[in-house]
Amino acid sequence: MAILYNPPENIFHLQTDTASYIIRVLESGHLAHLYWGKGIRNSNFENLLKMQERASFSPNVSGSDKALSLDTLPQEYPAYGNGDFRTPAFQLQLENGSTITDLRYQSHRIYSGKPKLEGLPATYAEQEDEAETLEIDLFDSLISLRVILSYTVFKNRNVVARSARLANEGTQQFKLLRALSMSVDLPRCDYDLLQLQGAWARERYMERRPLAHGNQSIESRRSASGHQLNPFMALLSKNAGENYGEVYGFSLVYSGSFIAQVEVDQFDTARVSMGINPFDFTWKLEPGSSFQTPEAVMVYSERGLGHMSREYHRLYRSRLCRGKHRDSSRPVLINNWEATYFDFNAEKILDIAREGANLGMELFVLDDGWFGKRDSDNCSLGDWFVDKRKLPDGLKDLASKVNQLGLKFGLWFEPEMISPDSDLYRAHPDWCLHVPGRKRTEARNQLVLDYSRKDVCDAIIKMVSDILSTAPVAYVKWDMNRNMTEIGSAVLPADRQRETAHRYILGLYRVMEEITSRFPDILFESCSGGGGRFDPGILYYMPQTWTSDDTDAVERLKIQHGTSIVYPAGTMGAHVSAVPNHQVGRITPIETRGNAAMCGNFGYELDLTKLSKADKSAVREQVRTYKEIRHIIQFGDMYRLLSPFEGNETAWIFVTEDKSEAFLTFFRVLAQPHAPLSRIRLEGLDEARNYKLEGTDLVMSGDILMNFGLNVPELQGDYASFSLRLKAI
Ligand code: DGJ
Repeated sequence: MAILYNPPENIFHLQTDTASYIIRVLESGHLAHLYWGKGIRNSNFENLLKMQERASFSPNVSGSDKALSLDTLPQEYPAYGNGDFRTPAFQLQLENGSTITDLRYQSHRIYSGKPKLEGLPATYAEQEDEAETLEIDLFDSLISLRVILSYTVFKNRNVVARSARLANEGTQQFKLLRALSMSVDLPRCDYDLLQLQGAWARERYMERRPLAHGNQSIESRRSASGHQLNPFMALLSKNAGENYGEVYGFSLVYSGSFIAQVEVDQFDTARVSMGINPFDFTWKLEPGSSFQTPEAVMVYSERGLGHMSREYHRLYRSRLCRGKHRDSSRPVLINNWEATYFDFNAEKILDIAREGANLGMELFVLDDGWFGKRDSDNCSLGDWFVDKRKLPDGLKDLASKVNQLGLKFGLWFEPEMISPDSDLYRAHPDWCLHVPGRKRTEARNQLVLDYSRKDVCDAIIKMVSDILSTAPVAYVKWDMNRNMTEIGSAVLPADRQRETAHRYILGLYRVMEEITSRFPDILFESCSGGGGRFDPGILYYMPQTWTSDDTDAVERLKIQHGTSIVYPAGTMGAHVSAVPNHQVGRITPIETRGNAAMCGNFGYELDLTKLSKADKSAVREQVRTYKEIRHIIQFGDMYRLLSPFEGNETAWIFVTEDKSEAFLTFFRVLAQPHAPLSRIRLEGLDEARNYKLEGTDLVMSGDILMNFGLNVPELQGDYASFSLRLKAI
């Protein structure tokens, strides 16, 4: 890792573990992107940039150099209005109505470490020598606009983390119309675009399509990252697969509306950019103020998608997630949602918890329905006081009784919402997002609190903190069950109304920061109707997310496989639920439900008191196994061996960093008559070591397991699976 500056040529060479990213300042002061790819030695890069005179439709920067046109120059943070007709990285409107800016290089700084992004989540360095940062100042001298581009590289990683800060150093007001986090011009366009698309209960399915001329984009206009498209995309060379080929990954550390796009131009170059969605966004930038964009994390892999994912996993696990629980084993939990929904009382809860304790579980989570008068989803959000009809002795008493059973106690909240039928709404009808005179559109009978307001955020911090201080709560599930409509704030002036959605996200981050730092011992899990806000922004505050409301083991294969493209298994909540499954009605064996859920943060979400004797002993065994292997899942490297998007079989292996232990899972969705023999080649092991296959007498060498492969045992019936632990001896 290093950031080198070659003064004679004005070139910055960012060296990651095995990749290079090269930027050049042209004589004109424009910032050109020269290269991003496999690492190259530092040498003279002066002749790398090839420009050529084009038709008059590509205007020139100066009359004396007919080859230099912003329309064809590969750039780092392109402006709008003076010759580049491709997608700009930013745009602002001046007091005279014009939207033209002209940025030129002014100065730069290179230093150890990585500064925090004000008010925003971001990757970080724990020690100064873990990372190096380059800041380049671009300046528009007519209007005194400064744009500071920031690039960080990390020791032993193939990551470039980028963001931009736009500062108004002039005397007039700017109206920011667009401020993306990054833009990069790749010299080719023969790539496939990989995106993670989905819906509620089927999040993050992999979808691959070839790039074509023009703009192709994915975005959210929901003011949440959303179930539909994750704030991530990758460009893959045509031959790229799990283990080979070039892959460029782009992941945005942001939880609101985003855009990620690739524009293929007339000369077959590809401009990739990503950031806050400019749709319905403006920001008033007063003299003396600045705007910080979220961070985009860019990964280059010359060894396929698997390697790219492991780069993200390692970084996000250790330098995005924070707090005490970042490195601690996550508990096996039992959650009452699918067991009782809203229909429970203290006795029922304690019955389930008692059974959980008998089966070896470690945490009981009381889900929705414990507060206000919440017997269904049509009321009480905002009334964060215990419902004495259901829990007459209160939360503290219930939590203590759960603790006495030997389990920790966890609690569900949905702190961003307000029910029209709530005391909070009756007292503060202007606390929700709304536009005067317009209908307040409800979803799940609820409205969204206006987190762009400081007073609302402060009130919520107090309400949640009061509850957390009165009962021994060890875990919080932070839910969010709708997207925003009528986005307007009662306290912002007219010319700032279009800031509301981003201000909401900044408010949310402040609330999360405040609550998680007030209660550092609590493990926080985020949720948004399952995985509707599974993004790096939230992971900065809460190290795990409920992956999906779909708990069916077969559905989970695709959901967890797709999620693992960016996010490590240790961030994914995964539970065993009852059959027939509540989302799809499928009946799968308890072993398969266990094997799928064990590939994440493991838990159960069913009425344990209703389990058969046989299922109970299977569950006891699963809990025991998971406790022994969870360090491999939660902190190891994941290798995707067989994809549920490509066939009937799925296989994953998790391997500890020192390669001494591994956990393999294999799933076959439908049984086949007279089936061919199956053999899977394992990955990530040490070829030179021997591994004991636990539960058998077999010892096999790493090189056999990885090259010849492992014969899959005979499996009977639909939805069959097996798991295997391997230990180096
Ligand atoms: C949506 C979540 O994803 C579920 O797990 C559950 O907590 C419900 N909300 C409760 O309303």
